[in-house]
Amino acid sequence: TWTPDSFVESTVDELKNKVGTDKVILGLSGGVDSSVAAMLLHKAIGKNLHCIFVNNGLLRKNEFEDVLKQYEGMGLNVKGVDASARFLDALAGKSDPEEKRKTIGRVFIEVFDDEAHMVEDAKWLAQGTIYPDVIESVSATGGPSATIKSHHNVGGLPDFMKLKVVEPLRMLFKDEVRRVGASMDMSPALLGRHPFPGPGLAIRILGDITPEKVRILQEVDAIFINGLRDWGLYDQVWQAGAMLLPVDSVGVMGDERTYEKCVALRAVESTDGMTADWVNLPYNFLQKVSNDIINKVKGVNRVVYDISSKPPATIEWE
Ligand code: XMP
Repeated sequence: TWTPDSFVESTVDELKNKVGTDKVILGLSGGVDSSVAAMLLHKAIGKNLHCIFVNNGLLRKNEFEDVLKQYEGMGLNVKGVDASARFLDALAGKSDPEEKRKTIGRVFIEVFDDEAHMVEDAKWLAQGTIYPDVIESVSATGGPSATIKSHHNVGGLPDFMKLKVVEPLRMLFKDEVRRVGASMDMSPALLGRHPFPGPGLAIRILGDITPEKVRILQEVDAIFINGLRDWGLYDQVWQAGAMLLPVDSVGVMGDERTYEKCVALRAVESTDGMTADWVNLPYNFLQKVSNDIINKVKGVNRVVYDISSKPPATIEWE
């Protein structure tokens, strides 16, 4: 019978046999899958695992620093690369959702390829692919990796994509990945993190992206997510976040008329993200979070709560 302990033991053995003394490169995202994949490889090959964690400037507030510290505490050999400016420059003036996604995918590949070249003589690329990703990438629409690859058909693949691929979680579902992580003593906070999209806050800022909008949304998101934690609601929600709308509306502050941004909060229950229901969060929680956001985040004067289910609405607004 399958147990997380036996999976860890047999997978570590297999990885040792497969990879031997070769160097392996792995891109960490801060999410559960890439982190668990990294821990398995770390157990198998130690310092020959070279992890790369890219800050695309669209992560949550303080996430880059916090997650990097957490990875270092786990003993991982990880290089943090702050490429925020490169991503934000490339995104300037772009407001179409798919164009934003493609731009982020392209810049990520460029940054990752530069970093991968610095690991001399690497032979393998490790990925945190899980079973649902395997299914998705052979489906008609194609998953994120299919999208990334399609941009590079012209001019050939970047070098890191020519490495041999190792995917220790390929046969697992998400809940099994979490149990495997727990059996390696990874922190419940890391294993219980909500999903977060690769393009990050870029697809939660409707319209074009500026550093100021990113800052506003990071502040709003932090108040909402920390509020969910403080009120013991975080683990009851599958995913949550805030959207910065391209709408200014009138408000009053003291005797002044304001004309500022509106944010929408979204929290959903789901099992796989394919369908989702909005969460019936307590009114007094929403009231407190709304007041905190409007009082503390300069540039926002209105908060709304999204009560749409998927389908037909998607979880993200872009
Ligand atoms: P939607 O908005 O399609 O989201 O209902 C379903 C799940 O997928 C995530 N998502 C993405 N993840 N790149 C990603 O890595 C993307 O471009 C992307 N778009 C949506 C979303 O956060 C939710 O968990």
